[in-house]
This record gives sequence, C-alpha cells and structure tokens, in this order.
Amino acid sequence: MLVLRILGWLAVLGLVAGAGFWVLTMPRGLSAETLAAMPPGDAARGESIFWVGGCASCHAAAGAKENDRLKLGGGRVLATEFGNFAPPNISPDPEHGIGNWTAADFANSMLKGIGPGGEHLYPAFPYASYTRMELGDVADLWAYMQTLPPIPETAAAQTDLRFPFNIRRGVGLWKLAFLDDSPAVTIADASPEVLRGQYLSEGPGHCGECHTPRNFAGAVDTSRWLAGAPNPEGKGRIPNITPGGPVGDWSLADMVYFYQTGFDPDFDAVGGSMVDVQENLAMLPDDDLHAIAAYLAAVPPQASAPAAR
Ligand code: HEC
Ligand code: HEC
Repeated sequence: MLVLRILGWLAVLGLVAGAGFWVLTMPRGLSAETLAAMPPGDAARGESIFWVGGCASCHAAAGAKENDRLKLGGGRVLATEFGNFAPPNISPDPEHGIGNWTAADFANSMLKGIGPGGEHLYPAFPYASYTRMELGDVADLWAYMQTLPPIPETAAAQTDLRFPFNIRRGVGLWKLAFLDDSPAVTIADASPEVLRGQYLSEGPGHCGECHTPRNFAGAVDTSRWLAGAPNPEGKGRIPNITPGGPVGDWSLADMVYFYQTGFDPDFDAVGGSMVDVQENLAMLPDDDLHAIAAYLAAVPPQASAPAAR
C-alpha cells in the first residue's frame, strides 16, 4: 500500500536525520597527543590567568569582594533570552566542585566546552573565547585553582532553559558552526606587544563576549568586533571600545589607569558588569594591561550603533 510505503520512507528519513544529528553533535575533545603534551602547571603563573579570565565574575557569589572572590561555589544566575544559566561550583571540593577532575578534563572544558562525562557545556561559559588559550596557560590556571578554598555545597541556582535550548546535545551543532580558535580580527604589522594584548583580550580576557554584537544564534559577530552591543542587564548599551568609539580619544596611559582604578579620563567611575572585570584587571601586571591597551588602539575601528535601542 502506498500509504505504508510513504510511512516507511518517512521512518527511514527520520532515522537518517536522527543519526545525522547524533554524528554531527558528537563531542570532539582534545586529541590524546595534545593532552599528552600538556605541561605540568605552575600555580604562581596561573594566578594572573585566573584574573584575566574573570572566573570569579561568574563563579563567586554575586557582590563578592576581596578574598571572597576566591570562593568559587557558584550561585549567580545569568538571565538570557534562552533561559537562565547558573554557573556551577568549580572549587576544588571533590564532591560539590571539580576537585576530582583531571587536568585533561579541565583542558577539555576550557578549550572544547566538554564536561568529563563527554557532555557539551553551554557557551554561556565563555569557552568560545577560552578556546584561543594556550594549553600551558590552561595547565597553570588548573594548578592555581587547586590552591583555592573547597566549597562543600552545590550551587544554589540551577540552569533552566527553554525548549529546544534545554537539549544539551544540540550545543554540538552550535559548536560546529561557531567554535573557532582563530584570531577574531587581523591586525597588520602587529608588534609583539599588540599580539600579546590580542591573545589576552580575545582568549582568556573574553572582552568580545560583552563588547561585540551577537547573531541570531547568540554567537559573536566578528565583522563588528568590539563595536558595542545591547546590554543584557537591560539598561543602555555596552560601549564600542574600538578606536571608532569614545575610547578613540584616550591615551594608552588613560586606558591603563582605567583598568587599574576604574576611573575614565573624565573621572567617571566604571559601572555595570565592567565593575567586576575592572577589579580583575587591576590584579594584572602593568605590562599585560599596557598590552591590552595597545591591542584596543590597533583593532579595526567600528562605528557605534545609534543611541536608540
Ligand atoms: C560569563 C560567565 C562565566 C565566566 C566568566 C566563567 N564561567 Fe565557567 N561556567 C559558566 C556557566 C554558565 C557554566 C555552566 C555551563 C553549562 O551548564 O553547560 C560554567 C561551567 C564551567 C565549568 C564546567 C563545570 C562542570 O561542573 O561541568 C568549568 C570547569 C568552568 N566553568 C570553569 C571556568 C573557569 C576556569 C573560568 C575562568 C577562566 C570560568 N569558568 C569563567 C559561566 C562562566
Ligand atoms: C561582563 C561583560 C564585560 C566584559 C567581559 C568586558 N567588559 Fe568592558 N565594559 C562592560 C560594560 C557594561 C561597560 C560600561 C561600563 C559603564 O557603564 O561604566 C564596559 C566598559 C569598558 C570600557 C570603557 C569604555 C568607555 O567608553 O567608557 C573599556 C575601555 C572596556 N570596557 C574594556 C574592556 C576590556 C579590555 C575587556 C576585556 C579584558 C572588557 N572590557 C571586558 C562590560 C564588559
């Protein structure tokens, strides 16, 4: 019967589509050779990676100051159009945190967005930037994180997303399309200092995650790199930080002073989600801050979006 035949074909097509989805969304971790070449970490070097990486901004309690920023028990909620993301406990507690992970598990999470069970992690964890990090820096960061206090509690908040975003496997398709460890922009004749700043800003510093507009799928639009973006917290816009925006008038010294103190050249204090970022940047050595400033002065200028939102 024709109907049965059609149904039969539809079932076959469904299986093929399902198998295709399954294959396309398969987690692809770091290769065994890469992991074998992972150097032992140096905790002292890892401290500055921790601060430029901004881990405390999401994994420490909201409003945490001073030493409380080293308590990575989770508990915040990041509200987005896809639903609420809850950064988990990543303290060295073996039961409630990630204390029983291996260095390889950690490298796969930072560079490939894959958890130890092979599950895809959501890119609200900014591994789309961290994927540009050097393996040695990831090893140093891991060594440093072992020195932080274990927090023996599960994070209070839980991730809660709308369908279809609640299907973790689907993140595999997002990664196929958007996970890319090449530089976000090309800078002609970049000095070693600018290249260092590019690495810090596009990799661990993940500046583009807030300062660059996103496409329909929530991936940053590198053609408008650092051009400014709507503020997910609701009010106003996150500023354009290319030479085409207001910071085009700042000197390198103004920029470094802003990172160290939170004051811009008009002596206005930094606000919003940049407060945590600035407190983290203030922990970095001066030459790293100078490199980030030199990079921002060298990125392709972008026009700011009109003020209306
Ligand atoms: C913008 C917020 C944000 C920042 C910054 C951030 N994370 Fe996360 N992180 C998250 C979220 C959200 C998740 C949960 C992702 C998920 O559920 O798939 C997560 C998950 C993780 C996981 C997986 C934990 C698990 O139990 O599966 C690790 C490891 C991790 N982050 C480490 C870090 C480190 C190290 C840094 C700093 C270099 C960092 N994160 C910075 C938001 C963030
Ligand atoms: C979590 C989101 C977030 C991240 C990550 C982030 N910023 Fe910002 N940034 C902001 C917001 C929001 C503002 C506006 C602050 C205000 O209103 O005072 C801002 C402001 C700034 C300014 C001042 C611009 C002006 O016109 O006054 C500079 C410079 C800046 N950011 C540089 C950086 C650099 C460099 C990085 C990466 C190391 C970075 N930001 C990462 C959210 C972020």
